[in-house]
Amino acid sequence: MKTPFVPGPRYSGWLPGLDAVCYGGDYNPEQWPEEVWEQDVALMAQAGVNLVSIGIFSWALLEPRDGEFDFAWLDRVIDLLHGAGIRVDLGTPTASPPAWFFRQYPDARVVAKDGTVLGFGSRGMAAPSSAAYRKHAVRIATRLAERYGDHPAVVLWHVHNEYGAPVGEDFSVHAQTAFRDWLRARYGTLDGLNAAWGTRFWGQVYGDWQEVGVPSATPSVANPAQRLDFARFSDAMLRECFVAERDAIRAHSALPVTTNFMAVACPATDLFAWGREVDIVSNDHYLWAADERNYVTLAQAADLTRSVAGGKPWMLLEHSTSGVNWQPRNVAKKAGEERRNAFSHLGRGADAIMFFQWRASRSGAEKFHSAMLPHAGTDSRIWREVVALGAELGQLGDIVGSRTRADVALLWDQESLWAQGLEWRPSEDLQAGERIQTFYDRLWRDGVSVDFAHPAADLSRYRLVVAPASYLLTAEAAANLTRYVEGGGTLLVSCFAAAVDENDRVHEGGFMAPLRDALGVQVEEYLPLRENESLTLTGLAESGATVTGTVWAEALTLSGADVVGRYGSGPAEGEAAVTRHARGAGVGWYLSTVLDADELAPLMSRVYADAGVVTSGLPEDVEVVRRADVDAEWTVAINHTDTPARVPVAPGTVDAVTREVTDGEAQVPAGGVRVLRRALGEPA
Ligand code: GLA
Repeated sequence: MKTPFVPGPRYSGWLPGLDAVCYGGDYNPEQWPEEVWEQDVALMAQAGVNLVSIGIFSWALLEPRDGEFDFAWLDRVIDLLHGAGIRVDLGTPTASPPAWFFRQYPDARVVAKDGTVLGFGSRGMAAPSSAAYRKHAVRIATRLAERYGDHPAVVLWHVHNEYGAPVGEDFSVHAQTAFRDWLRARYGTLDGLNAAWGTRFWGQVYGDWQEVGVPSATPSVANPAQRLDFARFSDAMLRECFVAERDAIRAHSALPVTTNFMAVACPATDLFAWGREVDIVSNDHYLWAADERNYVTLAQAADLTRSVAGGKPWMLLEHSTSGVNWQPRNVAKKAGEERRNAFSHLGRGADAIMFFQWRASRSGAEKFHSAMLPHAGTDSRIWREVVALGAELGQLGDIVGSRTRADVALLWDQESLWAQGLEWRPSEDLQAGERIQTFYDRLWRDGVSVDFAHPAADLSRYRLVVAPASYLLTAEAAANLTRYVEGGGTLLVSCFAAAVDENDRVHEGGFMAPLRDALGVQVEEYLPLRENESLTLTGLAESGATVTGTVWAEALTLSGADVVGRYGSGPAEGEAAVTRHARGAGVGWYLSTVLDADELAPLMSRVYADAGVVTSGLPEDVEVVRRADVDAEWTVAINHTDTPARVPVAPGTVDAVTREVTDGEAQVPAGGVRVLRRALGEPA
């Protein structure tokens, strides 16, 4: 049995001078005449805003001509905010280089895979491996850091904006050269590259480095190892840009540096690698309107962000007060929905609840995006909700620095996601992202909080580790998972796991060979189903009912595991479908088909029993998360249903906003939220 979460001391590496939950948003005063700024600042005070992100898209104004800088307007903005006690998260504007830059360096434009050169007139990254781009980005970051690095209003640096969006890969001449250099550093010799990429297949052997290229459009499917390396390289180039700016800032300022991630939504960045480079992890999250249970996806993004932060608190740097503008149908949030969204982030470790953006823009591509201050002004539902949320968060300062508890880990490896997403897999219906989301959803419905973890990370403190999509699993990571099981952990692995190594090469010994010891089972053959076909499993549900699987089956060869579920139909009818293997002090489970969140329930209850994981027992769609430090535990309860809910709490628990004492049960109104605080050390 594993040691569960133990509340530790309050995390103190937070923003200088701020002991409140940060509340505010992106502020773009340059889009407005100066007389509006005074009004903005007064309204910010009314809404309880204590932090704004500024300067993110201001390069053209800060450096109107190459090497000519104009900081006067920014000085005035920062001084005005400072006068009102509002702190500044100062952006470097490098996500949107000015027109003069692209005129001077047309080759610094991003080139798409099909050779299209992406032009000026929008926003977005220049070619990240362009030396001219990097030089100019570092120069503007340096000038900002020199000028504002110890300004008392500035508490945080916000480098660039959403690295990897809108484009993550660049196929320009600069990428071509840099990719060769990156490959030389990775493989040393051309022989090493040929071996890693398996270039004897289809006669792709390289005889000279000049022949090695970026994987542009090809007549048939491109070499998957090359594609995978290009994804790694593209991510590495973006990270190098970040690190260059960060280091330029650090030379002049001791303030923490962040950049806003897009957890779950951005496939271009390997977030665990990025998490090691930033001082504070921050994230942007937008609901996908077409997803009716998008609050589960929100929770997943928040949990991934916290995990990237190593369990420490983090910042929600952007979300929306209501609808966005970039989806096919931009559904407005319902009354109370934004409050539920904000508190789900808070419960999952966010110590900042920030929006895009403060005041809705009149011009440009985002004028239909919601804001804290909408076009309708202060006599509006959105504004009233913004003010109420600010007041509520203002009561919750002492939650800052406490940590969210989770005893279960879901594995997340961006390299595996990249690899599985390439072409010519056994079935396009088996999607890694869907698998992760479905397992997450099952855990969410069971009220089980999870962290995300890299398969090579130390997993020893988790009661249960779930691998929903570990297509690419290195021998080292597999050994780590095996050690975890042997040491007393419960591991659940889902189908199409450990198929390939880091070069998208099938493991020696066959599919899943490196997990043989942990799982006691091998995969002989993949047996994908036809579109919309399903199959049944027997033996899983205590009730004797069958369970329905879709998409996929496998022919398994047992090597020590017990069969818990069998295929009742489908291509492996009568054979093992779900196995359980006692190994060392722990247990390794294997599920060889695709189950949706409902059909996963009977399997998960058996797995929970092995792991000692306790479900919340609350009605579905009542979300409860807990944060704690050594002094107190906070229960954040969010009712997504339209009937009131009761959440059991320990005697002595107090409503953290109203200070009202509860009597062992907290009522959470339909669509409502409660934050409850219990001093630790008091009887449970
Ligand atoms: C992203 C960007 C913002 C804004 C929002 C709109 O998060 O960082 O600048 O465009 O999307 O939803």
